[in-house]
Amino acid sequence: MITGARRICAFSGAGLSAESGVPTFRDAATGGLWTKHDPMRLASPEGFAEDAATVIGWYAWRRQRVAAAQPNPAHHALGRPGVVNVTQNVDDLLLRAGASDIVQLHGTLTHDRCHAACGHRERIDLSAPPDAPRPCPACGAPMRPDVVWFGEALPADAWTRGQAACATCEVLIVVGTAAEVYPAAGLIDVAKSSGATVIIINTNPSAASALADVELIGKAGEILPKVL
Ligand code: OAD
Repeated sequence: MITGARRICAFSGAGLSAESGVPTFRDAATGGLWTKHDPMRLASPEGFAEDAATVIGWYAWRRQRVAAAQPNPAHHALGRPGVVNVTQNVDDLLLRAGASDIVQLHGTLTHDRCHAACGHRERIDLSAPPDAPRPCPACGAPMRPDVVWFGEALPADAWTRGQAACATCEVLIVVGTAAEVYPAAGLIDVAKSSGATVIIINTNPSAASALADVELIGKAGEILPKVL
């Protein structure tokens, strides 16, 4: 299926980076962040308004984890030319593995932006991230990580590109996602209903299992280099 396909798209989640030592969200076996922390406190506009210092400090910890991590064999497999990577991940491991066509639906840890959306955006050194709240140098509103929080809309450009990639691919490889967070997970339905073959690679069955033409249960870093 993969060899014969001209347009291959990968839709990935936190399980893709688990073997690099980056915690997942819902998977207790890989340190799932939402099994230990309240997402509404750490990843919502309400939580940021209530306690910005805790939110910024938590993102500093996550950024340092990513800075210390290396791309694993699954990232390198997906980094090959010709694969469009639509990812929910906010780390930069696909980029560091050489992937050139990446759509980050939930934003990125590599930048901060103005919370008031004045347009100011800054690159962040992931190994030395901001560890305290600070004002936007352009307008004075708080700066925040350039990621999507609960209750916020996806970046319009990423959503448009993700939809287009999933609607036009011949094969969609779904990797390391519980497929529980919408609208992102809806892209698997988009690909399926557009006629794509759906191949799922995950350590456990997921909410998307029913959509799979092929489901490979196991670690992404072991399976992906064999199939790609
Ligand atoms: P989850 O933590 O919900 O799911 C990770 C999935 O990866 C689980 O189904 C695991 O079984 C699987 N997994 C773990 N290790 C794996 C490995 N080595 N190989 C293959 N699969 C593995 O993470 P996501 O589905 O990415 O959103 O979560 C989606 C969104 O929820 C995130 O982008 C984040 C979170 O809230 C925002 O922050 C907006």
